Amino acid sequence: MEVVIAAPEELAALAAGAIEQLLTAKPAAVLGLATGSSPLGIYDELARRHAEGRVTFAQARAFMLDEYVGLAADHPERYRNVIEREIASRVDFAPGAVQGPDGLADDVVAACARYEAAIAEVGGVDLQILGIGSDGHVGFNEPGSSLASRTRIKTLTDQTRTDNARFFGGDVNLVPHHCLTQGLATIMGARHIVLIATGRAKAEAIHHLVEGPVSAMWPATILQHHPHVSVLVDAAAASRLQLADYFRSTYAAKPAWQGL
Ligand code: F6R
Repeated sequence: MEVVIAAPEELAALAAGAIEQLLTAKPAAVLGLATGSSPLGIYDELARRHAEGRVTFAQARAFMLDEYVGLAADHPERYRNVIEREIASRVDFAPGAVQGPDGLADDVVAACARYEAAIAEVGGVDLQILGIGSDGHVGFNEPGSSLASRTRIKTLTDQTRTDNARFFGGDVNLVPHHCLTQGLATIMGARHIVLIATGRAKAEAIHHLVEGPVSAMWPATILQHHPHVSVLVDAAAASRLQLADYFRSTYAAKPAWQGL
């Protein structure tokens, strides 16, 4: 696990750089896309690089991490619509290249199984972008999630619904209770995971992710078992890391050729 502590713009550029490098080496790469505030700087940077002709998504595919259950097809906060607005419509993915779990499916179990099969069919995710919840969730794998879980329906915690109320006009009652999310084992199947977190509200979760014992109480800690994770944090999100000085000096001494 590599931890990079830098300013938010630098973190977004680093993640976008890793994606640009991947797509240059492997134009038909498979990306994993997160929703929420954390990846927005990365998506802005990718849109900018695409407009400059530096990166194309024409052959790439992407899988979303999660989706609310029951939000109307045209609801602006339905994650399929958020991803379309924030990244897919700003670059050149082919039609149908971006998929997400079907939060409006009648048969949720079958929809989740189909989603797992679709990811497997393309050979898995090359690079997964992740945010992290203040309660340590990744995807919507809330505390207590099985560390071996696959895509399934989950109930959001009150903490997550309160955190996300800002996207629903501040009204927590409008935040759905249920979601479909890739499981922790599904996420662990990605070949490279880039997790980005900024702000003091994420400091405790980042401390547990990097330095805590692996536990379903802090689901992101499963990433300690992954061979290639880049944790990108600003100084506020890093403020509870005991090893912050070590991570800063390691990154300062990192060979330029190495990338994330
Ligand atoms: C979003 C997702 C969530 C968010 C997390 C942090 O697809 O899976 O795990 O990444 O809730 O959200 P923000 O980035 O809004 O703080």
